[in-house]
Amino acid sequence: MDVRRDFPILASNDMAFLDSAASSQKPEVVIEAMDTMLRSGYANVHRGAYRLSGEATDAYEAARAKVATFIGASSPREVIFTRGTTTAMNMLAAKWGGDRLVPGDNVVLSVMEHHANLVPWQFLKGVELRFANLTDDYALDVNSLRNRVDERTRIISITGMSNVLGTITPIDQIRAVADTVGATVIVDGAQLVPHLPVNVETLGADFLAFSAHKMLGPTGIGVLWGRMELLDEMDPFEGGGEMIDEVGLFESTWAPVPHKFEAGTPPIVEAIGLGAAVDYLTDLGMDAVRKHDAELTAYALEQLATVSHVTVYGPTDLNIRGGTISFTLGDIHPHDLSTILDENGIAVRAGHHCARPLMDHLGIPATARASFSVYSSSDEIDRLVAGLELAAKLFGIAS
Ligand code: ALA
Repeated sequence: MDVRRDFPILASNDMAFLDSAASSQKPEVVIEAMDTMLRSGYANVHRGAYRLSGEATDAYEAARAKVATFIGASSPREVIFTRGTTTAMNMLAAKWGGDRLVPGDNVVLSVMEHHANLVPWQFLKGVELRFANLTDDYALDVNSLRNRVDERTRIISITGMSNVLGTITPIDQIRAVADTVGATVIVDGAQLVPHLPVNVETLGADFLAFSAHKMLGPTGIGVLWGRMELLDEMDPFEGGGEMIDEVGLFESTWAPVPHKFEAGTPPIVEAIGLGAAVDYLTDLGMDAVRKHDAELTAYALEQLATVSHVTVYGPTDLNIRGGTISFTLGDIHPHDLSTILDENGIAVRAGHHCARPLMDHLGIPATARASFSVYSSSDEIDRLVAGLELAAKLFGIAS
């Protein structure tokens, strides 16, 4: 995918940037859209009766409509702008979970969840958390999921693609398990939506959360998509301006969806940036994005296999693997490894990747992780491999 020149930061330095799962770089069109909005289109939305505010409102709502089309939502009203995936998951845990579940009910997660799809559920008092396991090939073990589910299971909340292992989960099979007990399916799509074509009409989820900054857009904005009847049923998460219908001293009523979930001044410029990112990805085509990711992943796995003492954590089945590769090199601590790579112009993430229970499950404290986006190239993978060989030599573990 020949798009590197669209990304100013990549044109202005020769780093091998392999940390897109943490946050992606931004193309010129996103930077420009936000710049133009700030310079000539900015005012608060849904408030002013003057022209500039009306135009800003139209631009903000147009961004919502772009996101809705991008994920195949039946209406833009099903798209709620949040601060990011984390906020969306907290909303769901508190309002779809905390408000409705009673002691003795259970929520089923998996052992590979990001903390954003774990800690918010731990806030629920008296609700049991259960965890589906992984297969030996790091796929979601659907049998184990089935065994965790019973008539008190109210919610199954699982990542669409692991930020550590790259595992893509079978949401259709999760749906089928949920349907046996009438549970709601929530998908943490933070890594899924930037990398694979997603259509919520056929996905099998009731709710889907994702962040703009991992899909070429800005920080500070994300999306909670939900089926309209569930969003109608769910209470607001935050109170304040814009989310109300009537307000009295002692009680208030709520605006319709999506506004009842968007208290306060929303991330207006960020929404414009997200809209531009969605346009950019749509022009590339999400099938082409997935193909690029899959090719790079196959190449990276092949190349990493040539380096002695590298252990890769993630599925060998490329059909269920996204462009995120966690690995260790001998017994070099991943932090030391990433420091050496950084000294050679290669940026990877090292640590527990906000998935400590998964690290415990794998029996390791940390991994290094290389992750790709549309601008990633095989040259960068070659540089990573050369960097690993150098690190192995420096630590005296070369074969
Ligand atoms: N969740 C992000 C990551 O996986 C920050 O790196």
